[in-house]
Amino acid sequence: MKTAGGSDAAKRRAGERAADEVADGAVVGLGTGSTTAHAIRALGRAVDDGLTIRGVPTSFQSRQLALEVGIPLTTLDAVETVDIAIDGADQVADDPESAGHGALIKGGGAAHTREKVVDAAADRFVVVADPSKLAATLERAVPIEVIPDAHTVVADRVRDLGGEPTLREAGAKDGPVVTDNGNLVLDCEFGAIDDPGDLATRLSRLPGVLEHGLFVDLADVTYVGTESGVETRE
Ligand code: 5RP
Repeated sequence: MKTAGGSDAAKRRAGERAADEVADGAVVGLGTGSTTAHAIRALGRAVDDGLTIRGVPTSFQSRQLALEVGIPLTTLDAVETVDIAIDGADQVADDPESAGHGALIKGGGAAHTREKVVDAAADRFVVVADPSKLAATLERAVPIEVIPDAHTVVADRVRDLGGEPTLREAGAKDGPVVTDNGNLVLDCEFGAIDDPGDLATRLSRLPGVLEHGLFVDLADVTYVGTESGVETRE
């Protein structure tokens, strides 16, 4: 089956590879999206077989799936450490010669604020992806979560930075997408992002921005599921 961005088999291989890393007793950050969903389902099966873990969900969606498959849940403020976080990405910078190597664009599911908090808190952050997510240079639109009153002001500042913002819509007649935090999302086109770290710093400085979807220097490893196996990027 083909799912948005890549084959479901490739996503499943990546997700299951990441789930294999989870040790008994671990606190696990549970990312959002169709690739991570395979990891969550694999962890649910492992829990059925006796693995003891606690999950910290990054979205309503991942919370629901974790409950469905029987993963006990906790919250960031109830644990001393998150041992490992598993999360997907919309694009992964994959050029070892480039300064931005390993940087991610996330937020396709509008969950990047909580994802960034949990992924950054983890001792080990494992990215799961399929080959369609790899790019020598990041170039997808960067999702930015903004507080509702600030969306036009932030959009202007994004234009000042050379970006082209679009308010994310839920679909015909449904109005804008509202995040789990009650905010809006601007998808901002910047073209090729040669220096993700610099853009991340500039976006973080804008008043009204809760969080943007550039994840720089956060990932420890990326598992790329393919049609025949799993490749590792470090
Ligand atoms: C959600 C995300 C997802 O991890 C990202 O959109 C990838 O999703 P998928 O695995 O379905 O391609 O960042 O905010």
